Amino acid sequence: MKLTNAKLDRNAPCWCGSGRKYKQCHMAFDEKIRMAELKGHEVPPRRLIKSPADIEGIRESAKINIAVLDLVAEKISIGMSTEEINRIVHEKTLSMGGIPAPLNYEGFPKSVCTSLNEEVCHGIPDDSIILKDGDIINVDVSTIYKGYFSDSSRMFCMGNVSPEKKRLVEVARECMEEGIKNVIPWHFLGDMGAAVHAHALKNGYTVVRQIGGHGCGKEFHEDPWVGYTTSPGTGMLMVPGMVFTIEPMVNMGGDAIYEDEDNGWTIRTEDGKPSAQWEVQVLVTETGCEVLTW
Ligand code: MF3
Ligand code: CO
Repeated sequence: MKLTNAKLDRNAPCWCGSGRKYKQCHMAFDEKIRMAELKGHEVPPRRLIKSPADIEGIRESAKINIAVLDLVAEKISIGMSTEEINRIVHEKTLSMGGIPAPLNYEGFPKSVCTSLNEEVCHGIPDDSIILKDGDIINVDVSTIYKGYFSDSSRMFCMGNVSPEKKRLVEVARECMEEGIKNVIPWHFLGDMGAAVHAHALKNGYTVVRQIGGHGCGKEFHEDPWVGYTTSPGTGMLMVPGMVFTIEPMVNMGGDAIYEDEDNGWTIRTEDGKPSAQWEVQVLVTETGCEVLTW
C-alpha cells in the first residue's frame, strides 16, 4: 500500500507547476533540500521557487522595466529635473500596460526613485531638483505587469564627472557583476555578498549594511533579504528557481547612512560622500544565474 502511494507521488505532476512528473522534475531537488536542511543550512521554502509560468510573467514585466530604463538613458540630460524623469518613467510604463511599482508603495509619492550623488537610494523626484554637470544619479525602476514585479536600476553620469566619482560608478557596476558571477546554485547567499563586499573594499570603498536586495516575483519585496556585507557560509542557499535582486550600494566614504527626516524616504551617506548603485534581477539556474532585468 505504501509503496503504491510512493509510486503515485513520483508519477504525479510536480508541485512546481511545470506539468512534468515529479520524479522527472523536482524529486532529486527535494532530496537535496532535505539533505541541506539536515546539515542545518537555511533553505528556501517552496513558495520562493518560481514556476515556469512565474518566470515567464517576470520576463514580461522585465521587458517593460528594461524599455523604461532604455528610454531614460536616451532622454536624461543636464538641465532636466528629476520630476521629468518621473514623468518619462510613469508614461512609458503605462503606455506598455504596466504599473510603476514605487507609486504609493508604502506611501512613496512617485513612480521612480532618483538618487543623486550622496543620496544612497529612495530619492524622490521633484521639479526643483535639476541635473547638473558633474552629477551622478541612480534611476531605480520597478514595474508590475499582470501581477509580476521587475526591478532594476542604473547609474548615469551627467557631463564632466570627476574621475573619482566616475571610478565609484564603475566599481559599483563591477560589484554588481561580481554578485552575478557568484550566484552559484547550492552555494550560500552569504558567499555572494562576501564577494561583492571584497571587491568594494579592495577598491577603497564601503558597502551599505542595512539596506539590501530581495526576492522579487509576485511581490515587490519577498524573502530572502540579500545583503552584500555578509560572511561566506551564511544565509540561505541559492537554489535553482529562486529570483532575487543584486543591488549593492557602494559608498566612496564610510558605510554609515541616515534617512531624511522630512520626507521619511531618502537615504543619504552620513559623511556626505557620494554613493553609487546598479541593480539587476536574477534567476538562479542549474549552472549559475540568468539576468532577467537590468
Ligand atoms: N526599487 C527599490 C528596490 O530596489 C525599492 C523602492 S521602494 C520605493 O528595492 F517605494 F521607494 F519605491
Ligand atoms: Co530592488
